[in-house]
Amino acid sequence: MESAVSIKNLTVNYENVEAIKDINLEIENKDYLAILGPNGGGKSTLLKVILGLIKPSKGEIKIFGKSPEASGSLIGYVPQFSKFDRNFPINVMDVILMGQLKNKFSLFHKFDKCDLEKCNKIMDELQISDLKKRQIGQLSGGQKQKVLIARALIGNPKILLLDEPTASLDSSATNMIYSLLKKLNDTMTIVIVTHDIGVISSYVKNIACLNKKLYYHGESKLTEDIIEHVYGCQVDLVAHGIPHRVLKSHK
Ligand SMILES: Nc1ncnc2c1ncn2[C@@H]1O[C@H](COP(=O)(O)OP(=O)(O)O)[C@@H](O)[C@H]1O
Ligand SMILES: [Mg+2]
Repeated sequence: MESAVSIKNLTVNYENVEAIKDINLEIENKDYLAILGPNGGGKSTLLKVILGLIKPSKGEIKIFGKSPEASGSLIGYVPQFSKFDRNFPINVMDVILMGQLKNKFSLFHKFDKCDLEKCNKIMDELQISDLKKRQIGQLSGGQKQKVLIARALIGNPKILLLDEPTASLDSSATNMIYSLLKKLNDTMTIVIVTHDIGVISSYVKNIACLNKKLYYHGESKLTEDIIEHVYGCQVDLVAHGIPHRVLKSHK
């Protein structure tokens, strides 16, 4: 089976910042991968390259064998925490339906019955149907994150990318999101990005450590051997002198 995401010798430079330096990464279909690393380590940049929003300076990315630009509908994306004006006049159902827009050609596309049915089905699955008329800005952090996941799911993606999905959530909302992702992982590849190893779910199948370079990629079962591996990677992260919370959860 072809990799869901195949990254070869990828380097990404912004004007005068080298954000990612020569990384290779294969993400298998149906993997559940957590990409860890400190703030500024290039995690959001990597997701944007996979999405085709940023062009690599060097190297190559394939999504199920195709270029990111040709793979838009294969990928669902939940961006790093977005604040909504509490009074912004858009309700939950409209936010979810907007996820469908990118698959339609017409700017003036009207949602059809099929879109609405799909939307209702996803709201059912995520247990947010009772919120459908609520304004997005008035939801709790966990509810909001579920709505943004629903929005990413409406295009039927094969890969779901989430950027710091639990960064602003309390532990019960965090657990709720992780059990939802575990369920979604039965049918799709999940990639989450986080700077905080303390919130990494035990459901995660593999982890990768990114701080400009890729320091580790492998299984996340916490055998001593792996902890040592991961720890090694974190020591490297520390050596870069960037403060982060990754190390704290290990003695
Ligand atoms: N649009 C941009 N222009 C210039 N530099 C950027 C831009 N976006 C990110 N960077 C820089 O690239 C590096 C990686 O950033 P980012 O991918 O956001 O890291 P992370 O998501 O791991 O915190 C940082 O040094 C950041 O300041
Ligand atoms: Mg980021």
